[in-house]
Amino acid sequence: MPDLEQNMIELKAISKQFGSTYALRPTSFSVKKGEFLTLLGPSGSGKSTLLNLISGGYSATSGQILMNGSDITDAPPRKRGIGMVFQNYALMPHMTAFDNVAYPLRVRGVSEADIKLKVLDALKRVGLAGFEDRKPKQLSGGQQQRVGIARCIVYSPSTIMMDEPLGALDKNLREQMQDEIKTLHNEIGTTFIYVTHDQEEALNMSDRICLMNNGGVVQLGTPDELYFHPVNKFAAQFIGESNLLSGTVDGDNKLRTGTGHLLTMPLSRRVPAGETCEVMLRPERIQIVDPNQAESLGVAWTVVSGNVANVSFIGSMTTLAVRLTDGTLFKLKTTSLPEKHRYKIGDPIEVRWNPEDLVILQNEKS
Ligand SMILES: Nc1ncnc2c1ncn2[C@@H]1O[C@H](COP(=O)(O)OP(=O)(O)OP(=O)(O)O)[C@@H](O)[C@H]1O
Ligand SMILES: [Mg+2]
Repeated sequence: MPDLEQNMIELKAISKQFGSTYALRPTSFSVKKGEFLTLLGPSGSGKSTLLNLISGGYSATSGQILMNGSDITDAPPRKRGIGMVFQNYALMPHMTAFDNVAYPLRVRGVSEADIKLKVLDALKRVGLAGFEDRKPKQLSGGQQQRVGIARCIVYSPSTIMMDEPLGALDKNLREQMQDEIKTLHNEIGTTFIYVTHDQEEALNMSDRICLMNNGGVVQLGTPDELYFHPVNKFAAQFIGESNLLSGTVDGDNKLRTGTGHLLTMPLSRRVPAGETCEVMLRPERIQIVDPNQAESLGVAWTVVSGNVANVSFIGSMTTLAVRLTDGTLFKLKTTSLPEKHRYKIGDPIEVRWNPEDLVILQNEKS
């Protein structure tokens, strides 16, 4: 487990402007020693800019960066001890896998005997023992990326940064390499800063996720915090699927929606009466009411009925769209049943949820 007590990197109001536009607005947070932190966000949100500021590829417009407590804001990239892995692998095409991995050691003047030991160990760690003599064009995309990772870990940098390292790989290989990178992180215990715009990859791999949008941090927290307690609509929609409802809270702790529904709000987090409010409900928290099902005691279910508007079967899970008579649409997710037992478009359906599963979202402008 990472030593989450010590800060490896501290960002203090760091920002980057290109001309008059901010690629990164003033941003402050810390990365703990040994942590796997993922920068997640849509294209143009500032993820690569932030990596480049930390690695020294860009100079900061304002703010300060500390590494192990020392100010590195103006330190040259080589002095920062950060290893980079890129999406396009950036291998040298005329060199063998061995020589590509040996390169950072040779520029550091390591002896050939040590180089041999370290390169063979690094290639073994990424599952490429025996591939030493292959040139990049004799390797698959996944193998080339493994060489890229070996070249990074071989000189034991204190922090490893990866910018969309799996972006060029197909889905199955991506998932396999996600597990390999996680295992590698556990084995070597180095601080990882990882960039992706794939929310499932971020949820699967990270100790914490830094969700970015428009050059700023929207939410920084564990995968659980981001999934179960997204702070605003952007976070709720970017991670996972969500049903969003808005309205005004009345004196009985009910949300009156625009179409006149009165929905019970959570008791655990009260919103003052009279305030407008937006709430989110995850599709898997909505259940289909089964008259034969034993009642769960102690839950004040909210029950609504409508008709099935769409059915999407994707193997293990089925997503149903349920349209209420006023037109409100809910998406719900259940484990799949065989086709003859599945709902069809137009079928009447009754669904329910526990009001405590409603997540109250912050206004994005606040
Ligand atoms: N060298 C540059 N000159 C001008 N603008 C830039 C430069 N680099 C980045 N930007 C702008 O800064 C913003 C953030 O870019 P950045 O590359 O950090 O995004 P990103 O989150 O990495 O996106 P992607 O997922 O597409 O890689 C974008 O609007 C981009 O156009
Ligand atoms: Mg980028």
